[in-house]
Amino acid sequence: MKRFAVFVSGSGSNLQVLIDAVNMGEIDGKICAVIASKPDIFALERAEKADIPAYVFERKDYQSASEMYGEIGTLLEGLSADFIVLAGYLSILTPNIVDRFRDKIINIHPSLIPLHCGSGFYGRKVHESVLLSGDEFSGATVHFVDEGTDTGRIIRRRRVKVREGDTPDSLAARVQRAEHKLLTLVVAAMCGDRIVECGGKVRIKCKPKYGEGAIK
Ligand code: GRF
Repeated sequence: MKRFAVFVSGSGSNLQVLIDAVNMGEIDGKICAVIASKPDIFALERAEKADIPAYVFERKDYQSASEMYGEIGTLLEGLSADFIVLAGYLSILTPNIVDRFRDKIINIHPSLIPLHCGSGFYGRKVHESVLLSGDEFSGATVHFVDEGTDTGRIIRRRRVKVREGDTPDSLAARVQRAEHKLLTLVVAAMCGDRIVECGGKVRIKCKPKYGEGAIK
């Protein structure tokens, strides 16, 4: 069974969805650690309630970000983590951890990458940008993490229609529901080794019950 760590910086609704999916058997994996970028966030209460070991790593306690991520990497290797999920984690990873967990770190972003992403696009700002642009669709993206900001290979996106009269909050609420479904799907696929490269693209293989090896 795969073991994964979830990195958080906020309320942790995505973390909660993963906890629930593991408990329901929708994800055949174990959350071996929650890594938080600050101590006073609701995500840590969720981890505690679910009895998941949680660790706070604050940048201010280290000489450099690389040093901090070096320690996090060592901790996660000690816990035999197979992969990392960034679920609302607002700090930028340094190259040493990206390299150590190459193709084993995924991130969820609340827009259709490559739109409305990159440096400065987080939280409400993403949805404000979508509404200003007049785009017909927003959505959510799960991608591998590389050295850039939101530049790694896309694993899967899920569209959300922008409605007339949408506000950043109303759009955010629908995108969040899409994120929860998308993240569950991708993490379940990571746990089942069902993410494959196919014709230069990243694809998710269906669960065997839909036909062994079928590509969705
Ligand atoms: C999500 O929208 C995620 O895409 C973004 O930060 C938000 C985190 O929400 N990176 P939560 O903490 O999981 O509720």
